Amino acid sequence: MSHAPFVPTPEPVVRKMLELAEVKPGEVVYDLGAGDGRIVIMAARDFGARAVAVEIRRDLCEVIRKKVEDLGLQDRVKVLNMDMFKVDLSDADVITLFLLTSTNNMLRPKFEKELRNGVRIVSHEFSIEGWRPAKVIDFHEAATSHRIYLYRFRRQRRRHQ
Ligand SMILES: C[S@@+](CC[C@H](N)C(=O)[O-])C[C@H]1O[C@@H](n2cnc3c(N)ncnc32)[C@H](O)[C@@H]1O
Repeated sequence: MSHAPFVPTPEPVVRKMLELAEVKPGEVVYDLGAGDGRIVIMAARDFGARAVAVEIRRDLCEVIRKKVEDLGLQDRVKVLNMDMFKVDLSDADVITLFLLTSTNNMLRPKFEKELRNGVRIVSHEFSIEGWRPAKVIDFHEAATSHRIYLYRFRRQRRRHQ
């Protein structure tokens, strides 16, 4: 089931998101709802990451695969044509999102179950309700302002009862 329409993030905003997340070479970056793959491609090509595109639409996965092949990034970018709610995120270092607040909120329990401490999550435009962002910036591009949220995941300690 689709949880957000395809609307691409402008490339300068993609770069800002990856800079904000401080993506380092070799880190594993997931884009949940990868669209045409621009985030995973920039993460792999310009930041040296191992990137995973998770996209429910088969036609968009074909677009991503073609771009990845043309750029020779097959060993750095994995394309998964599947529902993001079913992907295993346990090896993620960074997660990128451009979905909807309601979808982010639906993902929150999955994040809380699967993510390791220290995982950075960057979300274009939409917050994750109930989580305190480490940073929120307004980035101006082509006369439009884009809000980017950065979260650093920390597992809550269980209180002794
Ligand atoms: C707003 S676009 C963002 C595209 C890309 N991440 C970007 O920022 O340029 C959201 C994408 O999420 C995909 N999507 C929606 N629901 C999904 C789901 N349940 N699993 C995987 N992808 C999904 C849509 O097909 C769409 O391509």
